[in-house]
Amino acid sequence: MSTVRAAVLVRSGDDGPFTKTRPIEIHNLTLDSPGAGELAVRIHAAGLCHSDLSVINGDRPRPTPIVLGHEAAGEITAVGDGVTDFVVGNRVVLAFVPSCGECEPCLSGRAALCEPGAQTNTAGTLASGERRWTSDDGELLHHHLGISAFAEQTIVSELSAIKIPDDLPYDVASLFGCAVLTGVGAALNAAEIEPGQTVAVFGLGGVGLAAVMGAKLAGAGRVIGVDPIEHKRALALEIGADETLDGAPGSVELLRKMTGAGADRVIETAGSASVLESAYLSTARGGITVTVGLPNPAAVLSIPAVSLVAEERTLRGSYLGSANPSDMLPKLFDHWRGGNLPVERLISGTLTFDQLNEGFDRLASGEAIRQILVP
Ligand SMILES: NC(=O)c1ccc[n+]([C@@H]2O[C@H](COP(=O)([O-])OP(=O)(O)OC[C@H]3O[C@@H](n4cnc5c(N)ncnc54)[C@H](O)[C@@H]3O)[C@@H](O)[C@H]2O)c1
Ligand SMILES: [Zn+2]
Ligand SMILES: [Zn+2]
Repeated sequence: MSTVRAAVLVRSGDDGPFTKTRPIEIHNLTLDSPGAGELAVRIHAAGLCHSDLSVINGDRPRPTPIVLGHEAAGEITAVGDGVTDFVVGNRVVLAFVPSCGECEPCLSGRAALCEPGAQTNTAGTLASGERRWTSDDGELLHHHLGISAFAEQTIVSELSAIKIPDDLPYDVASLFGCAVLTGVGAALNAAEIEPGQTVAVFGLGGVGLAAVMGAKLAGAGRVIGVDPIEHKRALALEIGADETLDGAPGSVELLRKMTGAGADRVIETAGSASVLESAYLSTARGGITVTVGLPNPAAVLSIPAVSLVAEERTLRGSYLGSANPSDMLPKLFDHWRGGNLPVERLISGTLTFDQLNEGFDRLASGEAIRQILVP
């Protein structure tokens, strides 16, 4: 048991500006020791992802109070009973679905759909069903996606951890846990990109820029990035996009004109049904549209139904990069080392605990791409 500084989201459904409303409070919490199959991890770097923002603003409902954060890397400081794959001192990145390896989706290679993992993530507990945070007044707090990385130290299931190589710095490593796995995985595992194809990516935040990198890795011949924010378009061009559009009305027609018949593959990472509609309408006949964004559960998509059949189109979702993180991440670390995955370019700056509310304002406004909390 130890006392740990942590960022607690005290209410969901807050529209901000968070600098004023301050839904994230910094508290000293009591953190239990790791239970069987669990690890204590000293967090060295934790990225701010739009999925955290969606819990704050209510687009992604989760129980509160909750210790936010799900994109992180750190060092193991204690292991619970029965842990054999990890020892104290291991450097790890955390994955945001604690895939059990034993349920039907896990056994069929679809770790993102792990049934117990989805259940405990939605409930805000660890994979064990336990909660290990207690406030001063004795209240148990919730865990975010089995990780709760906005804390000096956290407890995770061993199912959430993947070892990282010694030469990978913690700040870069943290982004592999969500933005990189999700974006690159969408391109490599879901979009079925064939060498030379034209790929458009709608939304150029952390996940979308990673998808641009993934499209290049997959051998795309032409990559078109779409985002209303100028500095994100500029960065997309530096890391592999060939052209960009600003997503203003008319962008679909423009994209279709630029490509002749639409892009062969389109990856949507904006988290909005209307952007997904544009992404779909920008896809060529016979093409594949992959959606990665997580819109509000009430959002409804409207597309011409017949186009799926008459144009043999595919629309598919991708969660967790449609990957098994422990298989895929080591390959991505090698791509990073080889210079083909410049993940450090996604980092906009670092933050302290007291700057988290401001940080989420900067993510919401589009000023920042990936900000890293260094607890
Ligand atoms: N599927 C998954 O496993 C998974 C994992 C992580 C995040 N997500 C979701 O993916 C989405 C992206 O996450 P992020 O952290 O990169 O967010 P972000 O806020 O950094 O990026 C979203 C981008 O979309 C852009 N955008 C807004 N309107 C647009 C428009 N009309 N056309 C084109 N682009 C537009 C924004 O300017 C922004 O750059 C979020 O919805 C997040 O919840 C999904
Ligand atoms: Zn995320
Ligand atoms: Zn499972």
